[in-house]
Amino acid sequence: MTLLKVENLKKYYSSGLFRRQVNRAVDGVSFELERGKTLGLVGKSGCGKSTLGRTVLRLLEPTAGKVFFEDREISGLRGRELKKLGTEMQIIFQHPEASLNPKMRIYDCIAEPLRIHGLCGKEAEKTRVLELIGGVALDEELLFRYPRELSGGQLQRVVIARILGLKPKFIVADEPTSMLDPLVQAQILTLLKKLQQDCGISFLFISHDPAVVEWMSDEVAVMEGGKIVEFH
Ligand SMILES: Nc1ncnc2c1ncn2[C@@H]1O[C@H](COP(=O)(O)OP(=O)(O)O)[C@@H](O)[C@H]1O
Ligand SMILES: [Mg+2]
Repeated sequence: MTLLKVENLKKYYSSGLFRRQVNRAVDGVSFELERGKTLGLVGKSGCGKSTLGRTVLRLLEPTAGKVFFEDREISGLRGRELKKLGTEMQIIFQHPEASLNPKMRIYDCIAEPLRIHGLCGKEAEKTRVLELIGGVALDEELLFRYPRELSGGQLQRVVIARILGLKPKFIVADEPTSMLDPLVQAQILTLLKKLQQDCGISFLFISHDPAVVEWMSDEVAVMEGGKIVEFH
């Protein structure tokens, strides 16, 4: 069943004098993504992968085109509806630090989205946080540390635990392991695959590394200059 459908999506950036210089970062992209499947997105740096991922999630406003999530057009959603969508669609960035508040203990980093979205009461919260940290195979002891006291791989696991608390249906993983050493990279990729099997999450998996994308994906889209030039 189709979870996400993207139709002729465009995102242009304007810059320069009178904003007359236009960069067609995403220039007419269409694809469909099934429930529980992974579409890999590969291409050289600067070809528009991150812009596409963010525009699909409405973190950037599209210049043109449509995005349907569960058969509903989300390109025009506002306010509360957009906020609700913000739990179902998530993003994992290359730098996990960017998603975590350095002043919060790991426990609070994971509990924060549950609080913001009112997903569990104070008592249930502790149980849920322990469940989530266990789900990404991290020791409970880390819950009382701060982000700077964890390794890159551990931080990326914390980010994943934090996101999973919201029970997302769709995740954009934007080069989630590019900063990690190969062994840790393999562990995180295996974890993402396992979570997908357990929870039926769909992924748009972005990487500049063709080997990683091939391994992770059911289908691969190759991007060049803002367009998808090949599916395989
Ligand atoms: N906020 C922005 N403002 C203007 N141009 C941008 C912005 N973000 C990215 N770009 C440009 O858009 C193009 C695509 O960038 P990006 O989506 O980051 O590519 P990738 O993720 O494939 O490396 C690049 O030419 C980049 O310089
Ligand atoms: Mg990028």
